[in-house]
Amino acid sequence: MKMIARRDLSAKDRLIVALDVPDLEAARSAMQLLKDDVGMFKIGLELFTACGVVLFDLARELGVRVFFDTKFHDIPNTVAQASGAATRHGVNMFNLHALGGRAMMEAAARAVCDSVKDAHLRPALIAVTILTSTSQDQLRADLCIDDPPLEQMVLHLARMACDSGMDGVVASAREAKAIRAAMADHDQFLIVTPGIRPAWSVANDQVRIVTPADAIADGADYLVVGRPIMAAADKKSAARRIVDEMEQALVTPK
Ligand code: C5P
Repeated sequence: MKMIARRDLSAKDRLIVALDVPDLEAARSAMQLLKDDVGMFKIGLELFTACGVVLFDLARELGVRVFFDTKFHDIPNTVAQASGAATRHGVNMFNLHALGGRAMMEAAARAVCDSVKDAHLRPALIAVTILTSTSQDQLRADLCIDDPPLEQMVLHLARMACDSGMDGVVASAREAKAIRAAMADHDQFLIVTPGIRPAWSVANDQVRIVTPADAIADGADYLVVGRPIMAAADKKSAARRIVDEMEQALVTPK
């Protein structure tokens, strides 16, 4: 299924539901219930490890788009081979860690191109900059990185990802504005943001949360939303409320 150009994305296209469910039956019922109300479904490591590639057959059967949250980080050859395999599964988006470096990202981008000749059918290849669960203190204590500050590192990694052929980054909505400004010369560069909470939902374990409207206003293209939809009593109406809020932010920029 073709990726949609950034400028053509509707509010619904921009909503990615995190399928944080334990098994295939739960994945199937969530996809069936929400497929007309959201743009994509995120299959993460937990669900994939439990169910495997049959998930992609299911997505194809139901005609839904998939963000495969692979977060690859390995030597360039291994990531390239894995990227080719993810592409051949027909997913619409998948990701890797920018911290894997330029050579790794370039190898992955080449593997995507080699795996699908029609550029319109290629998945968006997205780089994770610094996980939002990582703090400045952790960078210092765990990785001996004192300088540059975390925000600068995110911008550096976003720029390197873009130069290495990535289609965008995963970043906190709080970083979206600075990334969008730093990438002003690349208007197709995508920003995918988790940590989204509508004003009417609970924060759960997310700390640095942003509302759908603010994330869109700050330049995010895709919003990844899990529990505010998946744990709602009425999942369909929760998804619709979020899309409505995104729609408002798109038509009336702040
Ligand atoms: O339920 P919630 O909306 O918090 O789910 C967000 C989804 O995005 C989860 O699948 C989570 O693993 C993922 N995610 C995140 N923060 C990141 C990267 C991914 O919340 N930095």
